[in-house]
Amino acid sequence: MVIGQIAEQADLVVAGSGPGGYIAAIRAAQLGRKVTLIERAGEDGIGGVCLNVGCIPSKALIEAADQAHRIGEASAMGIKATYQGIDMVALQSWKREIVKSLTNGVRGLLKQAGVRVMKGEFRFTRPDEGAVAITGMPANFVKFNDFIIATGSRPVTLPGFLVDQKMILDSTGALDLEEVPKSVAIIGGGYIGLEIGIALAKLGSRVSIVEALDGILPTMDRRLVKPVEKRLAALRVEVFANAKAKSFDKGTLLISTSSGDKTVAAEKVIVAVGRRPNTDDLSLERTGFKPDGRGLMAVQPDRRIGPHIAAIGDITPGPALAHKAMAEGVVAAEALSGKKVAFQPQAIPAVIFSDPEIATAGMTMDEAKAAGIETELASFPMAASGRAKTLNAHDGFIQIVADRDRKSVVGVQVVGPHASDLIAEGVLAIEMGASLDDIALTIHAHPTLSELYLEAAHVGIGHPIHIGARVKK
Ligand code: NAI
Repeated sequence: MVIGQIAEQADLVVAGSGPGGYIAAIRAAQLGRKVTLIERAGEDGIGGVCLNVGCIPSKALIEAADQAHRIGEASAMGIKATYQGIDMVALQSWKREIVKSLTNGVRGLLKQAGVRVMKGEFRFTRPDEGAVAITGMPANFVKFNDFIIATGSRPVTLPGFLVDQKMILDSTGALDLEEVPKSVAIIGGGYIGLEIGIALAKLGSRVSIVEALDGILPTMDRRLVKPVEKRLAALRVEVFANAKAKSFDKGTLLISTSSGDKTVAAEKVIVAVGRRPNTDDLSLERTGFKPDGRGLMAVQPDRRIGPHIAAIGDITPGPALAHKAMAEGVVAAEALSGKKVAFQPQAIPAVIFSDPEIATAGMTMDEAKAAGIETELASFPMAASGRAKTLNAHDGFIQIVADRDRKSVVGVQVVGPHASDLIAEGVLAIEMGASLDDIALTIHAHPTLSELYLEAAHVGIGHPIHIGARVKK
């Protein structure tokens, strides 16, 4: 702070209004704190990446693309319909309405809770003070009692591929397309590459995916990825594995592969090679704490990095997922308000909104083995589910990883329709220490996809009903 400038005194300050930050702000206000929520884009940016340019708009695009594509597959159900194309401008305005109503809702909740929203970019100037800057204006200084850093992450940039949101896009540009590109090459076969790639393929783009490692979703169990690979082939999505993008010029992407350089025709390129924590512009060194080499902040179980500062969300170790940030936000707000709390989930679900969807929670068989747990795997295929058949979506399966001795569930993996919702029962089972017997004895409504849990549990306890499967040891 420059001599003569007076810092205003705040109580609890949250920097970043994404799902982690705004939830932390609301929870802190509920606990009687006077909360200031600092957001770079001010009121317009409330909701952060997830609500404005990430989770929510991407699901709108994915859903619209799927419904459009299903028209072409509906003849199997006797539906005579002709797909006449998609009005992307109308789709975008529908998407914007969804985002607007949700962000308006969050603004209302913050107002109701008495949270003050302050516009500007925050950086620390002292361990208990910081500057909030807006370009072209003198900075405001804020002194705080407690602070929650919830600044999230941004896309990793790729040298040689400068994002202009016209020819070379990141996920934000890809979700804003007002025309379906004839062809698109996606660099990165991870979460974003698959979700957006499949949606664009369903809308009629010729999609290529360029992945540096062995294949799409390289960190996932290959069994889970297989049904998605099958679908990609059906959608004529070309996957280049062990391939790296070198340059892009006049509709041609040059890639290097194990069998030499290749060219891929692409009207546009989407770069989706991961995200990087937003910790580099915060002047964290002024607080005495600094991020590790990957930009992540080491946190205590209650998410504090020091007595009065906590960090949550994508800037902390663990999966960079909104629901993790949300849960951490509650813990951080409570910890800084004097409660004895800890962020110690038994399982954090992860969902890829691919086709079919993939959802996981807890340990895979290999992870459980590595942790010294004797396991058994109980699985059941979608193809044997009556409900899946009536949805005309029968690729995929559920597998439950159970502790062989205690029979308790330690992990669940689901691939198939509505896997994103189905995983909830698995997370609850893991959190509650439920056994395969508990699941087998729980009546699941028929005919629903939830019965896959029941059926797999029956497999696991040795008396499968609707399949002649054996339990794998
Ligand atoms: P990602 O980490 O999921 O995937 C990036 C992929 O790019 C990796 O497979 C990596 O091997 C590959 N790659 C890296 N450099 C490359 C290069 N030079 N050439 C070719 N391939 C390269 O990252 P993504 O898809 O950008 O998503 C970022 C994060 O956002 C995710 O990890 C996830 O945490 C979050 N997210 C979550 C979603 C959900 O919950 N459904 C949806 C979208 C994103």
